[in-house]
Parts: sequence; C-alpha cells; structure tokens
Amino acid sequence: MFSKYKRQSATAKPVTAAQPKAAPAPEAQPKAPAPAAATLRKPAARTKAEAAPADKERKRKERMGEIKIQLHRELLENLNLAALERASEAELRAEISSIASEILEERGIVLNREDRQTLNKELYDEVTGLGPLETLLQDDTVSDILVNGPQQVFVEREGKLQLSDVTFKDEKHLMRIIDKIVSAVGRRVDESNPYVDARLADGSRFNAMVPPIAVDGSLVSIRKFKKDKLGIDDLVNFGAFTEEMAAYLQAAVSTRLNVIVSGGTGSGKTTTLNALSSFIDNAERILTIEDTAELQLQQTHVGRMESRPPNVEGKGEVSPRDCLKNALRMRPDRIIVGETRGEEVIDMLQAMNTGHDGSMTTIHANSARDGISRLENMIAMAGIEMPIKAVRSQIASAVNLIVQASRLQDGSRRMTSITEITGMEGDVISMQEIFRFQRVGLTPDNKIIGHFTATGVRSHFSERFRLWGYDLPPSIYEPTVMEAR
Ligand SMILES: Nc1ncnc2c1ncn2[C@@H]1O[C@H](COP(=O)(O)OP(=O)(O)OP(=O)(O)O)[C@@H](O)[C@H]1O
Ligand SMILES: [Mg+2]
Repeated sequence: MFSKYKRQSATAKPVTAAQPKAAPAPEAQPKAPAPAAATLRKPAARTKAEAAPADKERKRKERMGEIKIQLHRELLENLNLAALERASEAELRAEISSIASEILEERGIVLNREDRQTLNKELYDEVTGLGPLETLLQDDTVSDILVNGPQQVFVEREGKLQLSDVTFKDEKHLMRIIDKIVSAVGRRVDESNPYVDARLADGSRFNAMVPPIAVDGSLVSIRKFKKDKLGIDDLVNFGAFTEEMAAYLQAAVSTRLNVIVSGGTGSGKTTTLNALSSFIDNAERILTIEDTAELQLQQTHVGRMESRPPNVEGKGEVSPRDCLKNALRMRPDRIIVGETRGEEVIDMLQAMNTGHDGSMTTIHANSARDGISRLENMIAMAGIEMPIKAVRSQIASAVNLIVQASRLQDGSRRMTSITEITGMEGDVISMQEIFRFQRVGLTPDNKIIGHFTATGVRSHFSERFRLWGYDLPPSIYEPTVMEAR
C-alpha cells in the first residue's frame, strides 16, 4: 500500500521491526463506551460516577497520545520526505491515512471512526505542520497562544486567557516543534542559546525560551497574525474609542503630528498604530521598521524593513537603529517604527524633529507621563550625556501626541487617554489630556462599566487642524459622556 512517498530503502524493512514493543492487542481494543451508565447511578455514587468518565477520557487521551507518537515516528521513518514536499494536500492526507491504517492493522489496534479521524489529522499536522499547535493556529478565534511547558497551553479568545485542552506528549515533543519553527528561519535554540524570536510562515510572531532558563519546560508565546487587521471602524465598533476621538485622531495624523502609542504588553499598541496609519495620505512615502513585520499599511508607497538579531556566531545583526539611520537616507515622508525600546530612540526623536513629522511609534508604558520617563531612560541608556532639561526639550519638540492603549481587567482593550504635549514649563514637559476613559464601576460578572469623555480642554493644535482643513467642532472637546458603540 505504501507508494511513491515511501522511502525506497525502508521497503525492505518491515514496519513493525522499528518498534519492538508492539502495543498489546487487549489494551488496544476500544473501550465500550458506557457513559449512559453514569447518569443512571444513584445520587450517593455521584462523585465516583463523575470521576469515572473524566478518568476514562484522560486514559483514552493518554493512549491516543502514545499511539500517535509511535505512528509518527514510524511515518517519518517510512515517508519519502523529498517526494512529500511536492505532494498535494489531498494526496498527502490520503497517504498518511493509508500508512496509518496499515500500521494500526499490523499492530491489531482498533480505533473508532472519530478517533481515527482525529489521529489522521494530528499525524498530518505533525508531519507537515506544528503538531498540537496547528489546530490553535488555524482557529481564527484564538489570538494568542501561550505554552508553559508541555502540559499547559493557554489561549486568548476575545481578550480572555483560557486553558486549552491541547498538550504535548512531553518536553522532547515540545522542543521538536520549537526546533522545527526556528530552524525554518535559520536560527537555533538550545541550552547555550536558550531564547529566540522568529516569525512563522503565516506571519505570526513567535518567541520561545527553553530549559534550563525556562524552569518547568519550554515557554512559547505566539501572537497570531491577523489577516484583516482591525481598522478604525472596527475599533470604534468594539468600543475601543469613540467616533469623536477617531475624528480627532484623523486630524492629528493627517496634519502630521508626531504620535506615540503607549501601552502595556498586548494592550493593542500595534493594532492602534496600524489603524492610525490608515489616515496617512496615499501619496506619501512611508517607511516602516519592525522587529517582526506586523504592520499592514494600505498605502501604495510603503517600504517595509525588519531588523535582524545576530546569528549563532553573534554576527550579522541589523538593529532597529541601523534600519532607522538608513531609512533617513531613503527619502521618506514618514517613518513608522513598530516599537521603540532602545538606542534607536535618539534617531527617532531626531527624525521627528527634522522634517519627518507625522512619524509614529509605540512604547511600552502605562501612562503618557510614564511614556515620557521611558523615553528619557532610553536616551540615558543609549549613553547620550545631555542635561535632563535638554533631553526633555528634545522630547517635547519631537512628540506631539501620546495615545494610551490599555488592556483592562475584563479583557477589553481601550484607548484610555489621548494626551497632547504642549511644550516645556521650566524643567518639566507640559501636557494636556484631551480625551479619557472614565471608569465608574464593575458589573457583577466583572465587566468594566465606564464611558469616554473629553476633558473640556481644547486641542493645542486646533488652529493647525483648521488651517489644514480639519475643522473639528468645538463640541467634541466638551466634557460630556460620549456614546461608545
Ligand atoms: N480594541 C480591540 N478590541 C479587540 N481586540 C483587540 C483590540 N486591540 C487589539 N486587539 C487584539 O489584541 C491582540 C494584541 O494586540 P496588539 O498586537 O496590537 O498588542 P500590542 O500592544 O502591540 O502587543 P505587544 O506588546 O505584544 O506588541 C491582537 O490579537 C489584536 O487583534
Ligand atoms: Mg505590538
């Protein structure tokens, strides 16, 4: 039954020979499904009755896991991987299923139809994809995947983290998948090189850290790539900000204010940056610089750059700063840096100050004020010795607007503040908040109650907006409760 996908040399060797310990037939017999019995038991026996199906399910999963590992090993030994690359998906699925049947038959393992289908899918995912992660990667409702060792895989759905029922057989299995991902991008991860950043084939962002630095087994984080990034309208519909705020942001981006999106991990910084970029005129030349290319700009004239970490020998690094310096020679109208986190801050601020106004970036900070301190720290860390007042005045003249993105405790993501930088007062950078999210309480099921409001302060840039043709009505600055959709 093995065909062209089978390794030629392997034909001589009986399949079973590879596996000295065949699964004993009795254990392999499908267990008679008797869950109905559990419901007939008397109330007194309830705890036991409930435990039984769970236990059974666990055993079934364990057994399936073992069969899968054995079959997978044999499949890899017997498949002609070179021929496999050229096979169509349907061909490959049929092939895997027929090889699996053959092996199961030889072992006398009988599985019901459902288990067989699951097994075939899992084997296909193991051979061609990323094993247990594959189902989660294909599930569009999952936005983040977080693996804490082989037995614990969390996923984020609609802003909420939940434990999934996906597991790996053991640490070795998990490591094999990690290896598969990183070797595809020419990287390596092992004890001496215990963490790595990579991008999956579909554009998802991937980070892994392996033992011994990861104490309880490898840690993996995946931010799934969204084909259709959330746009301004989506974000307004989700209640991330209001139409009035969107109109203000449109004026700010179109009139080329320099904008920083600030926020914590996973707070929606990149999503906001991407949505804001939609306000940029199509005629402008935009250059983007990211560690992992995530932005999806809709304009025609876009040059994308991705910085590169050093290779295994510590060579070949192209830092965000290198990209930024080079970008300045490439005649951009605007520069967008995915995240500013290090010495590139100097060049970013300089770019913002010298003709590339309308540039944008994100920083990791919890408020506008905190964002400014972060920028000051980054400048200090970059080894620039400047009096603090000079640093601040450089920041104050470069940055016009800080948009704060937050992931609130109920999992919702909102633009909790829009703050303008208006200049310096003495040694201090002066700012004014224009819009904010006002929390007022919590529902019994822990949903946040609140509303957006303007602060009553008129924009420092309103004259600029007017001159550029963005005549915002004064009413949008009135401190009334704004309707979020
Ligand atoms: N307002 C929103 N409503 C619902 N989902 C959102 C919203 N904003 C962002 N998301 C989703 O939240 C996830 C994290 O968003 P994003 O990548 O923009 O965060 P980030 O702050 O850039 O994260 P990181 O710090 O990891 O770079 C994504 O899956 C994104 O689609
Ligand atoms: Mg991001």
